[in-house]
Amino acid sequence: MKNFITLEGSEGVGKSTQLRFLKEYCQKNGIDAVFTREPGGSEIAEKIRNIILDPSNGGMTDVCEAFLYAAARNQHLRDVVAPALADGKIVFCDRYVDSSYAYQGFGRKLGYDFVKNLNDLAIGQYIPQYTIFLDLSPEEAFARKGGADKADRLEQSGDEFFGRVYDGYRYAAEKNADRFIVIRPLGTKYETHEKIVEALKQKGVF
Ligand code: TYD
Repeated sequence: MKNFITLEGSEGVGKSTQLRFLKEYCQKNGIDAVFTREPGGSEIAEKIRNIILDPSNGGMTDVCEAFLYAAARNQHLRDVVAPALADGKIVFCDRYVDSSYAYQGFGRKLGYDFVKNLNDLAIGQYIPQYTIFLDLSPEEAFARKGGADKADRLEQSGDEFFGRVYDGYRYAAEKNADRFIVIRPLGTKYETHEKIVEALKQKGVF
């Protein structure tokens, strides 16, 4: 879907900073863009997000979790993404279907195909035009982060989990090579920003 750009990466890769920089870039250059996020991003979807990330919901099944992400995704598409795209805006979404491939498909071991089938129902034709993947392994990311962890439920799942999530992203990147823009955020945050802007210019988004 033209002008629908998603950003992906494991915890600690600097995704939020890059989104902030992109937002500033768009404002400075008069680019009409909407910035949103998953899970959540609209009223009903945020309520679903709170259920998923509530640490007291540790008994939630993996399949239930995968369905809730897909449900929130569908709602957020209808409420936020679709109207903005219809208005001719560029939509930048912090996490999307590839997060489900990586976290539920690989992290939770539901499998890529299971998660894809489920999400195909939720997203219909809303396949991102491009997906910027900040490609940093958990070891690289946690080293950079310096150990300060958020305590939400997903982050309590441990190191092996994040290893699988990273594998999942790499798998999704291979399977969807036509839309993936893989960026190694190894330099400064400003250098990474430059790389992202260059890639988006090259693809004709900017
Ligand atoms: P959030 O605090 O927004 O994390 P981040 O700043 O890293 O984006 O929490 C989102 C969490 O939800 C994050 O751990 C990834 C997870 N997630 C999934 O497991 N599946 C999904 O489909 C999505 C969109 C997110």
